[in-house]
Amino acid sequence: MTTGKPFQVVELPEHKPQDDGVLFPVVLLPNTDSTTIQLTAFEDAIRDHKPWLESLLLKSGAILFRGFPVISPSDFNSVVKAFGFPELSYAGGAAPRTQVVDRVYTANESPLDKEIPFHHEMAYLPNPPTKLFFFCEEEPRIGGETPIVLSHIIYEKMKDKHPDFVAKMEEHGLTYMKIAGDDDDPSSYTGSSWKSAYKTDDKNIAEERAAKQGIKLEWRGNGAKMISSPLPAIGVEESGQKTWFNSLIVTYNGPATDKIGNRNTSVELGNGEPVDDNVVKDLLKIMEEECVAIPWKKGDVLLINNLTVLHSRRPLIKPPRRILASLCK
Ligand code: FE2
Repeated sequence: MTTGKPFQVVELPEHKPQDDGVLFPVVLLPNTDSTTIQLTAFEDAIRDHKPWLESLLLKSGAILFRGFPVISPSDFNSVVKAFGFPELSYAGGAAPRTQVVDRVYTANESPLDKEIPFHHEMAYLPNPPTKLFFFCEEEPRIGGETPIVLSHIIYEKMKDKHPDFVAKMEEHGLTYMKIAGDDDDPSSYTGSSWKSAYKTDDKNIAEERAAKQGIKLEWRGNGAKMISSPLPAIGVEESGQKTWFNSLIVTYNGPATDKIGNRNTSVELGNGEPVDDNVVKDLLKIMEEECVAIPWKKGDVLLINNLTVLHSRRPLIKPPRRILASLCK
């Protein structure tokens, strides 16, 4: 155990050894008795130790704050604001979300018994958030974890396993497609309508807003097909390390929209070639092997570097579960 006032770093049974010896995620508890620490003291601690916290986030990829008095959505909003990162609007986002207070939104309103595969938040858009906050307002009884995995490990393992396909991804990028209805479909984790995604009922305005993100809208009977320009599928960290920065698995395995299993999202290589089923199978296996899933505790705040870490959602087995989110530029 090491200390960094007013926080203490702790190791949990779910942690896995990392090559560089850095905990993933770093778990920080209050250094004082958590029954006496006030929310304002936590906010002050964040402001006073921001460079240290940012260096931890850069080294580890994720920080879990546990045992701090964060109870309500507005408490969480204050914690987010204490970090002072600029807010990112959810324009063009695929998930059904509702604003709860100021910078705080529901994480994803699709049915909690369904899994959401690994993704970097909004990697299907040109300007995704750099950081994400999650907050556990209601702790799941069983299941409903938010597993995280280091993206550079996925890149390295996939490059070993499928060097040709990964080379094509690097060369051509990926093109994402989604069928967006006129109305939100809360049964699907990518169920936001074109009206919600572009915050307008006007098709011309929606087209203009989509075009700014490199997305073409093809109008259909009851909605639009959104087609992205090819986007880079591999990211590069400041260190030069490459990452699996894309939305391949979450769009390839998108939710079914009808009884015969048509999917409401799809993905192909930027040159129009299809994604190989075996690539997807191996990718799912590697992600599951490498991820860390720490069960949520009420009041947890998880800060994720969205550029270096992928996250997912495991099915909830025993309710309740309420996780809120906030996205930063
Ligand atoms: Fe997400």
